[in-house]
This record gives sequence, C-alpha cells and structure tokens, in this order.
Amino acid sequence: MKRAAKRIAVVKRSRFIREAAAIFGIATAIVLGSLAAANSPSFGSDSGSGVEAIRVAEPADPTKVLGNDACVKCHVSEQAVWSATPHAKTFDELHRRPEAAQIASKLGIKSIKHGDRCVACHYTRQSEGGTEPNAITTVSRNGNAGAADFHAIAGISCESCHGAARDWLEAHHDYGGANVTRLTESPAHREQRIYRSVALGMRNPHNVYLVAQSCYRCHTTGDEELVNVGGHPTGSLDFEMVAWSQGLVHHNFVRTDGKENVISSPNRLRFLFVAGVVADTEAAFRALSTATEKANFALTVAKRASRAGARLKSVAGKIGDARLDEAVAIFESVKIKLNNHDNLVAAADQLAKIGYELANAETDKKEEELREKLIVLDRFIPASKTWK
Ligand code: HEC
Ligand code: HEC
Ligand code: HEC
Ligand code: HEC
Repeated sequence: MKRAAKRIAVVKRSRFIREAAAIFGIATAIVLGSLAAANSPSFGSDSGSGVEAIRVAEPADPTKVLGNDACVKCHVSEQAVWSATPHAKTFDELHRRPEAAQIASKLGIKSIKHGDRCVACHYTRQSEGGTEPNAITTVSRNGNAGAADFHAIAGISCESCHGAARDWLEAHHDYGGANVTRLTESPAHREQRIYRSVALGMRNPHNVYLVAQSCYRCHTTGDEELVNVGGHPTGSLDFEMVAWSQGLVHHNFVRTDGKENVISSPNRLRFLFVAGVVADTEAAFRALSTATEKANFALTVAKRASRAGARLKSVAGKIGDARLDEAVAIFESVKIKLNNHDNLVAAADQLAKIGYELANAETDKKEEELREKLIVLDRFIPASKTWK
C-alpha cells in the first residue's frame, strides 16, 4: 500500500501549520474530512485554521530516527525505566532465543536483525551514517534507500512509540524563549507547541490515541505467513491499554518535573481505556484485511475483531456519545471475513479518526460532559493489581 494512503489528515486551517506542512511534506497526507471544530482543541489565536495530521502507526522511518541518545540528555529517568523493559532487552535477547530461530528458519529468514520481517516490531532501524545531513540527503535524493542502507540500532525504542524524531525534536521542547519554562509557558503557546509536534510526526501522548495506535500496531500481528507458516503468536491477545501501559512500561516523569514516575490520573486512565478499545478494533481490522486463507491467522484475528467490536459496543452503550455510536456503526457496517481488504482498511481509517477526536477531549475545556460520562467506566478499567 502507498505510504500516503496510510495517512489520515484532519484539516482545520492554520497559517503556521500550513507552512510547516508545506516544508515538511505533510501536505501529501490524504484529507479525509474536517473535524467538527467543537471537538478539537483550538490551537493558537489563528483560530479556524490548521492542519492536524494523524497517521496510521508504522515502524519509525529509519531516515528520521535519531536514536535514544538524542533523548537521554533531557529524559534520563525515562531512559532508565525503558532500559529495564522487554522493549529494550529484546535487542540483545531475541536473536538468541531458540523460538526466534525456529520462526526464522520456517520462513527462510537468515538474519532476524536484517530485512523488514522481524525488525518492523522487534527493532528500531536507522539509515547508515545516522541522520547526519549528508546521509539524509543521499537517501532521499536517490529516493530508493533499501533495507541494505538501514541497520538495527535498538530494540523497541522511544521513537517506536513516539515517532521518528528528526522533524519534531526541536518543536516538542520549545517553550518559546530562553527564559520560558514549563511553568511560565503560556497556555496558548503550549497548545501550539503540542500541535506542531503532532503535525511534524510526533506520537505525542497528549493525545493518547496516538500512542495507543503504536502499541496495537505491534501487539496485533498483521502478517499471515508469519503466523501460519512461521508459528509466531498472532499478537498479544490479552493486550489491554491501561493494564499494559501503567505497569513496567510507564515513565511519567514530566508531570512532576522529573521527581516521580506517577501513574496516570483517573480521568486519563478512562481516556486510555477508551483509546485502547477503539485502537484494538482499528488494529484488528487492519490485521484482518490481510487475511486470505482460512487458517490460524484469519481465525484468530477475526475473533479478535469480533471481541474488540463487542467491547466497543458495550462501552458506547454505557456512555451515550455520538462519536462512540458512530464507531459502533462503522464496526457493524463491515463484514468480518477473508479477502475484504479495502472495506476493512477504510473502516480502520475512520475508526482512527474517531479515536483521535475522542482522545482530544481529555483536556478540552468544552468536553466536560464527556469526561463526566466516562466516570461510569471505572468499574471496568483493570485494577492496578492486574497491571503488567
Ligand atoms: C533538549 C531537551 C529535550 C530533548 C533532547 C528531548 N526532549 Fe522530550 N521533552 C523535553 C521537555 C522539556 C518536555 C516537556 C514538555 C512539556 O512541558 O510538555 C518533553 C516532553 C516529551 C514528551 C511528552 C510529550 C510532551 O510534548 O510533553 C515525549 C513523549 C518526549 N518528550 C519524547 C522525547 C523523545 C522520544 C526524545 C528523543 C528523540 C526527546 N523527547 C528529546 C525536552 C527534551
Ligand atoms: C507485528 C509485529 C511483529 C512482527 C512483524 C514480529 N513480531 Fe515477534 N512478537 C511480537 C510481539 C508483540 C510479541 C510479544 C507477544 C506477547 O507475548 O505478548 C512477539 C513475540 C515474539 C517471540 C516470543 C514468542 C514466544 O513464543 O514466546 C519471538 C521468538 C518472536 N516474536 C520472534 C519473531 C521473529 C523471528 C519475527 C520475524 C520473522 C517476528 N517475531 C516478527 C511482534 C512481532
Ligand atoms: C515496535 C513494536 C512495539 C510497540 C510499538 C510496542 N510494543 Fe510492547 N512489546 C513488543 C514486543 C516485540 C514485545 C515482546 C518483547 C520480547 O519479549 O522480546 C513487547 C512486550 C511488551 C510488554 C511485556 C509483556 C510481558 O508479558 O511481559 C508490555 C507490558 C508491552 N509490550 C506494552 C506495550 C505498550 C503499552 C505499548 C504502547 C504504549 C507497546 N507495548 C508498544 C513490541 C512493541
Ligand atoms: C512502548 C511504548 C513507549 C516507549 C518505548 C516509550 N514511550 Fe514514552 N510514553 C508512552 C506512553 C503510552 C505514554 C503515556 C503514558 C501515560 O500517560 O500514562 C508516554 C509518555 C511519555 C512522556 C510524558 C510523561 C508524562 O509525565 O506525561 C515522555 C516525556 C516520554 N513518554 C518520553 C519517552 C522517552 C524519552 C522514551 C525512550 C527512553 C520513551 N518515552 C519510550 C509510550 C512509550
């Protein structure tokens, strides 16, 4: 599938972002339609205009990957938490596991760390020579950088979840002046900054849907042969967004200026929960869209899609929100069956848009009503003793 077709862009108009978009090529994203203005935060004073790009989760673009070294000077604590997770350790461990060798040999793969097959979910790749300006221009000028130009530099890294950072790095920590800090930054500047970072490709956790999409991309295997021939798991069937993100993986230091690794607030957990339910359905549809034969893979992802849809329905039934009802309608409009690629992908794209809109409501002043409604979910959100 073409890269552009995998992108979803939601358009509001903003002169600034339009310029940034032109410079960084975001304008190539497909425009699916405009968000109801009331559902999205207004970024900056130039209201009424702007581009907000949400993308289908993909492996971090090797030509834009900077590597954790580019983060650690400002995010020491996050790095320390990350290094102890299976995400980090898989780099040294995966290729030594007999199960990995077995899967690879069944698929005729010589090296697990090379080629796309395993790397897409187990490693982070960078182009040869890193992202030195020359290396980048060489790659993009000849336009045909192949796998041979890329090498695995880490396991599942910061950029696997937050997006390859070359374009958004500077924007995401720019408080707007040498003397401005997190505490003195104006709310309008803050909104603009977060918005810019997203437009430049960051999976910024200010919108929890963006990070949920990252998780589900890898934790739902969308490769029929890998499962049916290789014997790889069909993803993590018991993956749940709150339980899997608030345990060993969480690294929430920014909120306390680095003092403490806090778990997310009850309000945020509700939004993570809802994002997980929508993202699960999105990912299951994308995986199912690749299914062509009635075997383990198709059966498992079909079951997963049905289960995700049932959960979505159950959540929507408890909340009474037009967006969630629309998500249910989208789910129900598509047949869960083999060889139904285009319909399933189109539905997944629509679900992504709704998931993103809903996640924006977490902090939007105008969305108090939805936040109140979500409180009813507390009984269904996994309790902390079940967190990974
Ligand atoms: C020069 C310092 C600096 C570097 C380098 C840096 N960050 Fe940050 N980062 C910050 C600051 C400051 C914040 C807090 C912004 C705020 O107050 O919201 C932040 C926040 C974040 C957030 C939370 C979202 C947000 O916008 O607040 C994420 C995710 C993040 N950084 C990821 C990364 C990753 C990944 C890298 C490496 C590719 C990186 N950062 C490199 C300074 C930095
Ligand atoms: C779509 C993403 C994805 C791809 C592609 C992928 N993996 Fe995995 N793999 C995962 C995830 C996620 C897990 C963890 C599953 C779990 O236990 O929850 C995993 C687990 C594993 C495990 C441990 C399984 C076990 O039985 O304990 C091995 C071994 C493995 N992968 C090898 C490979 C190899 C070899 C390849 C390439 C041929 C590959 N993976 C490709 C996502 C992927
Ligand atoms: C780039 C692919 C990728 C992304 C993105 C990703 N994971 Fe994973 N995750 C894996 C793989 C692969 C494993 C298994 C690693 C291994 O055991 O070698 C794993 C393991 C885990 C584990 C440990 C599971 C266990 O049974 O111990 C947790 C928890 C987890 N992931 C949560 C998350 C969450 C939450 C997100 C999103 C915020 C996420 N992952 C995003 C690929 C990914
Ligand atoms: C497995 C996916 C994953 C990986 C890998 C990952 N993050 Fe995150 N990150 C998340 C998620 C999910 C959140 C939001 C969690 C929440 O709100 O509870 C987050 C939140 C953050 C925040 C904001 C914390 C706060 O207090 O609000 C920062 C900063 C951050 N990540 C930086 C990093 C850096 C730096 C790395 C690499 C060392 C990294 N992340 C690796 C998924 C990931």
